[in-house]
Amino acid sequence: MITAVYPGSFDPCTNGHLDIIERSSKLFDRVIVSVLTNSSKHPTFTVDERIELLNIVLKDYPNVSVCAFSGLLVDFMKKENADVLIKGIRAVSDYEYEFQMALTNKALYTDAETLFMPTSKEYMFLSSSIVKEIASYGGSLKGLVPDELIPIINKRCAR
Ligand code: PNS
Repeated sequence: MITAVYPGSFDPCTNGHLDIIERSSKLFDRVIVSVLTNSSKHPTFTVDERIELLNIVLKDYPNVSVCAFSGLLVDFMKKENADVLIKGIRAVSDYEYEFQMALTNKALYTDAETLFMPTSKEYMFLSSSIVKEIASYGGSLKGLVPDELIPIINKRCAR
């Protein structure tokens, strides 16, 4: 039984995140989407809201669960008996920081294996920040986030 953790801020989740989750759910027995609670960033959605949005769109994935975590990711992995850490990589620019985090996590916990999953090409430009920027100017989020989340994100980001 292999358990993978997919950590992030998910403020809010995008189709890029969902692409990685969907593909991961086919590779691993269990995928835990883990929402960081102790971020220094100023979030647009509360942790509970972010979890709720993820649960809405992941309801049909029986081996995927969503939960919050705080503190070090490796401690969360140990607690959950997780084997693999999944990180989506959009561009070479993501790689440097992600490589540093992968080595840090490995130094803290030798069993922590990071898997870099290249994003699908249609989502290479996509991020939660981009989604919020578009929504704040009244642009269309069609194809960038799941349809059912569009009104919720538009409402929160409206200027
Ligand atoms: O979606 P994000 O904001 O890029 O996700 C970043 C995240 C949550 C993966 C990263 O900040 C993280 O792992 N935070 C937990 C703290 C930790 O374990 N730090 C040491 C590893 S660098």
